[in-house]
Amino acid sequence: MTESITIVDNRTGNQLEIPIRHGGVAASEWQKLLPGIWIFDPGLTATAACESSVSFVDGEQGILRYRGYPIEELAERSNYLEVAYLLLHGELPTAAQFSEWRHDVTYHTYIHENVRKRFLEGFHYDAHPMGMLVSAVAALSTFYLDAKEIFDPEARQRQVIRLIAKMPTLAAAAHRFSVGMPFVYPDNSLEFCSNFLSMMWKVAEPRFDANPTLARALDILFILHADHEQNCSTTAMRVVGSSHADPYSCCAAACAALYGPRHGGANEAVIRMLQEIESMDNVPAFVESVKAGHGRLQGFGHRIYKSYDPRAKIIKRTADEVFAITGKNPLLDIALKLEEIALADEYFTSRRLYPNVDFYSGLIYQAMGFPLEMFPVLFAIPRTAGWLAHWQELLDQDSKIVRPRQLFVGSEPRPYVPIGDR
Ligand SMILES: CC(C)(COP(=O)(O)OP(=O)(O)OC[C@H]1O[C@@H](n2cnc3c(N)ncnc32)[C@H](O)[C@@H]1OP(=O)(O)O)[C@@H](O)C(=O)NCCC(=O)NCCS
Repeated sequence: MTESITIVDNRTGNQLEIPIRHGGVAASEWQKLLPGIWIFDPGLTATAACESSVSFVDGEQGILRYRGYPIEELAERSNYLEVAYLLLHGELPTAAQFSEWRHDVTYHTYIHENVRKRFLEGFHYDAHPMGMLVSAVAALSTFYLDAKEIFDPEARQRQVIRLIAKMPTLAAAAHRFSVGMPFVYPDNSLEFCSNFLSMMWKVAEPRFDANPTLARALDILFILHADHEQNCSTTAMRVVGSSHADPYSCCAAACAALYGPRHGGANEAVIRMLQEIESMDNVPAFVESVKAGHGRLQGFGHRIYKSYDPRAKIIKRTADEVFAITGKNPLLDIALKLEEIALADEYFTSRRLYPNVDFYSGLIYQAMGFPLEMFPVLFAIPRTAGWLAHWQELLDQDSKIVRPRQLFVGSEPRPYVPIGDR
C-alpha cells in the first residue's frame, strides 16, 4: 500500500501525489497544486500545526506519554520536578542533574518585592486569583531584561528556571491576597509541593509541614497536568512564541487561554454540577435531563479521548488516599453514582463519553481546602513545564510565525458614504 494521497483539481484535471508522513500531509505540497485554495478548519480539529516530540496522546486507546514514558509510570514513580526536567530536556535527569535542577528551582522561588508590594497588592480586594496570575506572569518580563535574549541558551535556561520556580509563589500570593492573608515567603528547605502548600496555608507557625500524603497527591496531580500536546493554552504559547516574544509574555498568553471555562475551568464546573445535583437520589433524574439535551455532564467526554482518560483512572486512586486524610468529600458519592449510571447508559457509551481528568480532580482540590477560584491556577503551575517545553521546541525548530489564512465572507468593495447621507 502506498503511503500517499493523490489530489485532483477538477477544474484543470491536474493532479498531485503527496506522501503521508507521521500521519499527515504537508500543506506546502498541497499548495503546489492548489495555490490560493485554503483548508477550512475552524478549531484546527484536523490541522497538525507543528511537529512535536514532547508528549503523545492516543485518544482511541486512552494512552498518554511524556517523551515516551507512560503517564501511569511517571505518576507512580516520578515527581513533578523530575517530570518537568524530562519535558524540558527530553530525557530523565541523572542523580547529579536532578540535584542541580532541584537546587536551581528551589533558589529561584522568590519574587521581586515590587511584584508583590506594588503590583499584586494593587489589585482590587476581590480580584480573581487567575486574573492576578495572568497579569503577574506578564509583569515578570519587565523584571528580567535578559528575557528577550531567547536565542541565548543560558538566558533562555534562566527564564525557564524562573518561571517553573516562581509560579507556585505567584499562585499562593494571589490566593493570600484574595482572602486578605499576609504573603508567605518560600521556604527553601521544603520540596516543591510542600513549599507551595506552606505558602498557601501557613499562619503563625515557624514552619509549615504539609501532610506528606497530601503533598504527594498534589505532586501526582501536577505530573498529570504537566503537558497534553497541542491543547488550547499550549497552542496560545506557540502562537505568541512564534512572534519571538519573551517567555513571560508567552506564558501569560497561555495562562489567559487556560482561564477559560472550556479549558482550565472544567473541574470547577464539575463541582458546581455536583452541588446542584445535591443528593444521590437526584442523580437518575439529572442524567435523564442531560440526555434530553439540558446541559452536559461536566467532566465527561473529551475532544481527543474516546475511551477512559488515563489521567482520570490515576486521579480516582489518588482521591481515595486524600479522602483518607481529609475525610470524604461529601460530593464524592454523587460523582460515583453519576459515573456508574452514565457508564451503563447507551447514550453515553454510544457517544464514547467517559470521565475525563476533570471529573475527580476538583473533588480532591476541594477536599484539600482550595477554593474553586484556585482550580485554574492549580492547573497553570504544572502546565508551565509543558508550555516551556513546547516553546523551546518551537524556537529550536526555527519555525515560521503563525499566521493562518481566512475564507473571506464579507462585503464586496463599496464607496464610503458620508455620515449625513447614511
Ligand atoms: C470536552 C468536550 C467539549 C468535547 O466535545 P467534542 O469533542 O466537540 O464533542 P461534541 O460536542 O461534538 O459531542 C459529541 C456528542 O456527544 C454529546 N456530548 C459530548 N459531551 C457530552 C457531555 N459531557 N454530556 C452529555 N453529552 C455530551 C454531544 O451532545 C454530542 O451528541 P450528539 O452527537 O447527539 O449531538 C465535551 O465532551 C464537553 O463539553 N464535555 C463537558 C466539559 C468537560 O468536561 N470539559 C473538560 C475537557 S478535559
